[in-house]
Parts: sequence; structure tokens; C-alpha cells
Amino acid sequence: MALPSPEREQWSSRLGFVLAAAGSAIGLGNIWRFPFKAGDNGGGAFVLIYLACLVLLCVPYLFAELALGRNGKRNPVGAIRAIDARSPWPLVGGLCVVAGLAILSYYAVVAGWAVGYVLRDLVAAEAPDAVFARVIADPLWVVPLFGGFLFATAGVVAGGVRRGIERWAKILMPVLFVLLCLIIFRSVTLPGAGAGLDFYLTPDFSKVSGLVVVEALGQAFFSLSLGMGTMITYGSYLPDDENLIVSGGYVAAFDTLIALMAGLMIFPAVFAMGQNPAEGPSLVFVVLPDVFGAMPLGSFVGTLFFLLLAIAAFTSGISLLEVFVSYLVDETPWSRRAAAWGAGGLAFALGLPSALSQGAVPALSDLSWLVGDRFFGPSPGMLDVMDFLWGSVALVLSAALLSLFVGWVWGAEKALTELRSGTGHTVGRVAGPVWCAAIKYAFPITILAVLVIDLLYDVL
Ligand code: PHE
Repeated sequence: MALPSPEREQWSSRLGFVLAAAGSAIGLGNIWRFPFKAGDNGGGAFVLIYLACLVLLCVPYLFAELALGRNGKRNPVGAIRAIDARSPWPLVGGLCVVAGLAILSYYAVVAGWAVGYVLRDLVAAEAPDAVFARVIADPLWVVPLFGGFLFATAGVVAGGVRRGIERWAKILMPVLFVLLCLIIFRSVTLPGAGAGLDFYLTPDFSKVSGLVVVEALGQAFFSLSLGMGTMITYGSYLPDDENLIVSGGYVAAFDTLIALMAGLMIFPAVFAMGQNPAEGPSLVFVVLPDVFGAMPLGSFVGTLFFLLLAIAAFTSGISLLEVFVSYLVDETPWSRRAAAWGAGGLAFALGLPSALSQGAVPALSDLSWLVGDRFFGPSPGMLDVMDFLWGSVALVLSAALLSLFVGWVWGAEKALTELRSGTGHTVGRVAGPVWCAAIKYAFPITILAVLVIDLLYDVL
């Protein structure tokens, strides 16, 4: 076990860690992606499959990332190097670090839109189409919002683990929960809300296919912020006597609870107002504003909704930046402050093409001249291409490699010993070997299969 450097920070308490890690996990993926994946793929049936993927594969893998981070007390590269320095494995940590920054670069663009909607609602009520054109396509809105979001993110990360990340998670997560409850209350009390609940929750097993399972697994995986080193990094700030199983379990439970609740917020309102549950940005940024426009107290609820979305994205963005910053702090002479501002600036430069890809610069809105229209779908924009490369491929690839590393190079049994530290041996004689098998075989095989199926599906 590596000793922490004397100045390395730790979370102040279990609650601090759980809220920060749940803040990372709860993001845009929970608030709009989960409900609509569920709605499209068989409602309650999808939810059941999602839960199975979560419990059988994603949560065991979450424990592996936490154990790896706490064992090394380092960023993803350093955590791997602490176990095996003379091999190419630390490069996998490098992939995580780079993927974190790349994902942040476009995640912050979407987060900026949400902030734009909050500001727009406060300044003047406009028709949803007009707001969409302004906040999402007009560079004079998009770039400052995107930059401002990154600026705030860097500011929090510069403040450090306790006084930055943990403090803000403790303030924002309860706010998020209260906002969500308020909007759910409004949504389910609308006349006609029941049809939305039916659509969302009635299991329809006829819609379940192999591809739905792949969707559910991918969603569970992205939603828990796995595969890019956030959980390795957040785990590295945990003390040795912390029970990783209990605290990781809380994180997964909160993440799932919020995703399920998001569906209760969205579908009743969409159905009560007679709208179609479309998927993607148009749902959140065009259909929902319409829904809010038509319902009693709607403009107030709409502002709350976009505030909720912005907060969820903010605590996730913080964790994405922290991966890169922890790397710079651990492995280079950079101070935390310099690293946070430098990395924030880099994410800004990297994200500008995505920010300008929604109509501002035509060459970026349709990259088929560069990448063709086979792999990424017809006329893919910069943002879609980034999301596919980093949010789908890189993430899954590094998770598969990380689980192989933990299972075979570090050794699942050694990882289990780390996992047991602080638990008072709550990992029993049966659960331990089952976990080892999951990390050595089940997880890497399934997740590589998902990657291959996804890629084949896109190419064929
Ligand atoms: N889990 C976040 C969400 O649900 C996304 C995310 C992925 C954040 C990976 C950080 C790291 O939106």
C-alpha cells in the first residue's frame, strides 16, 4: 500500500465523499437520458434490466475503481504505476485522464445551454424556438455561457478537495433534491399525468431485445461515471478505514434514485400537455420548454428545471476536471491552483469547436466532409463525434482495460484485500470470490462485447 504524501487531502467525512461522488454520478445522464431511454425501450422492463446491469456488473466494477484509487492514493496514472510501474499499463490511466478532459469539453457546452435557459427565463420569456436559436446556436451566447461554466468549475476545483469540491457538493446536492421533489409534485398533479406514468413504468417486454440490454448497460455505466478515472480519483481521497462497499453502495443508490425520480418529473408533464416524448437535445431544450409554457406555474417550474439541470451538470463537470487536475498535481510540480486554471483553459480550447457546432460554423455542424456519414450517423456535428469517440468508445475501452488490470495484473485477491480494509470483513466468503470472478471475467467480457456490438451496429 502506498503511503499518502503528507499534504494529500482527504474527504472530511463519509457524507462528504458520498455527496461528491453522487454529484459526479448524477448528471445530464440522469435527468434526461435515463428517462427517455426507459420510455423508448419498454418502460418498467428497461428499468428492471438497468437495475440488473447495475447490481451485477457496474457496482462491482465501481468497487474496483474505488479500491484502485485508495490503494495508490494517486490519480489514475499514479494509482496504476503504484502497482506496476514497468509496463505500458499506466497508459490506460493516461487514457482516463485525457478522456476526462475531452468529455468535459463538450459536456460543458450542453451545461452552458442549461445555464442560458435559466438566464433567458429570468430576463424575458420568449418562444422556445427563439430561445433555442439564441442560446444554442448564437456564438455570442454560447461561447460566454460555455466559458463561464468552465470558469466556475475551475474555480471550485482550484479550492481543493474539502474546501472546493466537497463544500459545493454539500450545498448543491440537497438543493438539487429539493428542486426535483418540487417539480415532480407539480408534474404528477397535472390533470392527465397518469398516462405519462403508464408510459414510463408499465413493463413492456415485447420491446426488449439484445440491443436494449446493451443500452441499459451503457446507460448504467455512464451514469455511475465509470471508466474515466473519476471514481479512482475520488477514491484516492478516502482514508484506509473507510468502508468502500457501504459508501460506494450509497453512491450507486442515490444515482439510481435520482434517475428514477427524473422519469417521474418528465413523463407526467409531457403527457399531460399532450406532447411527444422525443429523444435528445430537442426534447430537453424544445419540447420541455413548450410543456412548461403551457402549464400553470410553468415559467417558474421551467426555470427551476433548468437550474436543476445546470446543478447536476456542474457537480459532474467538477469531477471530470478533477481527474486531470489530480494528475497534474501528483505528477508535475504544478500547484493545484495553476493546474485547475490551466486544465480549465485547455478544456475551453478543446470544446470551442463543439460549442460552435450547433449552427454557428457550418463546417463544424456537419462533419461528414471529414468523417463520412456512416460511422457517426448522417451529418454528424462536432459535438456528436466527440461524444461518440470519448463518451462511448474511450470510456468503455478504458473500463475493460482497467478491469483486466485489476483482475489479472494487480490481482483480484489483492484488490479484494484493499476492498475489505475498513469493512470489518463484511465481504463474506461467498461474496468475495463472486466479486473476483466478476472483475476477472464477467465485467471485461461483457463490456468488450458491448463495445464490439456498438461499433458493428454503427458500421453495418
Ligand atoms: N455520470 C454523469 C451523468 O450521468 C456523466 C459523467 C460521466 C460524469 C463520467 C463524470 C464522469 O451525466
